[in-house]
Amino acid sequence: MAIDVYLSEEKIQKRIAELGAEISKDYAGEEEVIVVGVLNGSFIFMADLVRKLDLPVQMEFLGASSYGDETESSGNVKIHLDLRKDISGKHVLLVEDIVDTGNTIKALQELLSGRNAKSVKVCSFLFKPARLVHKVKIDYLAFEIEDHFVIGYGLDYAGRYRELPYVGIWSEEEK
Ligand code: IMP
Repeated sequence: MAIDVYLSEEKIQKRIAELGAEISKDYAGEEEVIVVGVLNGSFIFMADLVRKLDLPVQMEFLGASSYGDETESSGNVKIHLDLRKDISGKHVLLVEDIVDTGNTIKALQELLSGRNAKSVKVCSFLFKPARLVHKVKIDYLAFEIEDHFVIGYGLDYAGRYRELPYVGIWSEEEK
């Protein structure tokens, strides 16, 4: 197998600083924002993003999975960890690692829509438009990417490679 660097650590950090400034500007003056990370993939992106926010934030996590150990989405989203906090009347910023088919974001928006949040916005690190099945609105996006299976910076293949500081393209071929 081989990994080619697709988004360097430098490029990622520069973009996250820009995104943090944009989000801080949009929520300026708000009492609080609840940043909700979608586990497992978003934890590294969320950790870097929240440190670029100049806002009063609380952090929560939702556990969702749709892939098993494959590189194709099963389309069947399982919620295995729910929020501990009541979000009614609060601004919620859902943080995802990647929007691929859109199944996960759609399921999470449905889950949260009945909970009377003041607003629910989506911030995704990556977006792969080639494979989108559901029309989803991404309010904040770090990078749009081509149709590759990528790993690193929180994203895994069968549970591995999340710790890489860059995003790489994973392939089975030996180089
Ligand atoms: P969706 O539900 O198809 O939009 O996919 C969302 C989830 O699938 C993401 O949160 C990732 O965990 C996983 N995923 C989608 N594409 C990739 C990829 O290229 N690499 C690693 N994980 C991916």
